[in-house]
Amino acid sequence: MDAPAKPGHDGMNMTEILKPSEIGHAAELLRAGELVAFPTETVYGLGGDATNDRAVAAIFAAKDRPKFNPLIVHVPNAGAARPLVTFNARAEALAAKFWPGPLTLVLPRRVDCRVSLLAGAGLDSLAIRVPAHPIAQELLRAVARPIAAPSANRSGHVSPTGADHVIAELDGRIVAVLDGGPCSVGLESTVLDLTGAPAVLRPGAITAEQLTAIVGPLSAPGGGTARSPGMMARHYAPARPLRLCATSAQPGEAWLGFGPDAAGATLNLSPRGDLTEAAANLFAYLRKLDCAPHIGIAVSPIPERGLGVAINDRLRRGATAVKGA
Ligand code: TXA
Ligand code: MG
Repeated sequence: MDAPAKPGHDGMNMTEILKPSEIGHAAELLRAGELVAFPTETVYGLGGDATNDRAVAAIFAAKDRPKFNPLIVHVPNAGAARPLVTFNARAEALAAKFWPGPLTLVLPRRVDCRVSLLAGAGLDSLAIRVPAHPIAQELLRAVARPIAAPSANRSGHVSPTGADHVIAELDGRIVAVLDGGPCSVGLESTVLDLTGAPAVLRPGAITAEQLTAIVGPLSAPGGGTARSPGMMARHYAPARPLRLCATSAQPGEAWLGFGPDAAGATLNLSPRGDLTEAAANLFAYLRKLDCAPHIGIAVSPIPERGLGVAINDRLRRGATAVKGA
């Protein structure tokens, strides 16, 4: 079955509230590509199969996110993270000390990592978290796949710390929420970038002092490298120039099409003009076309509605990025 949840359903289907005894059912829904919110010790997460491009695109749609920020990928233990990212000595020490728990580590993505490129917003790094909440633990083990889960609120709203908050935010946009009662921490996990000198990208439940005790001094986010603070990861941009709103390719260009009018496109994000499908394919297709013999990538116009807003945001950044930086 590959039909994911239909976000933006206007409440036609109500979101089902599942009891902890129904974790098995929640796991089946996730494996089928549906969206299920679940409790962690920090906040409730809006979960989707991180290996399923369509499920990940549906997460962005359900949240009404105008941008593709990279998402945190949840696994039950460090062993399940090893096929996804490359650990270094600091990561090993921090995982041994703080996992399971409210610490997210940003590590280099392995080339054979099976997580959707959209989940990591096309970056070469991936944020990994091992939540301690017993329901999250049991769910992740039952799904046996990495789960992408931003906080289960609509974009710009506060993070939910109870199943009732999740319903208030997302009723009708996700198929189910697992009710585990209130979250004990109530504050998001600390996000620590370990792809260079350790730097806190988002302060959270694990303090700088606790981290320093294990890995030594932390560098300021943005210091030295191009990292910027808070939620800001470097953005993925193709090396070749992007030409937007193109209705055909010029000599030497690849054509990234959208919709039924783009017959003859090198690749089509969605021949039937479905924005969730287009979002699911975006990063993978850009990467496929960003290579010889193409000298540039022409991109069809994408409607500025729903997920099209986030797709256009990313394309415009890619079109104006300083190449080769
Ligand atoms: O407590 C939490 O972390 C909650 C629960 C549900 O686990 N999750 C959560 O996820 O807050 P989300 O997607 O809302 O937050 C993701 C944060 C953002 O600040 C994002 O920019 C950063 O992690 N992030 C994710 N992947 C990254 C990457 N590859 N590089 C840098 N930052 C990244
Ligand atoms: Mg959030």
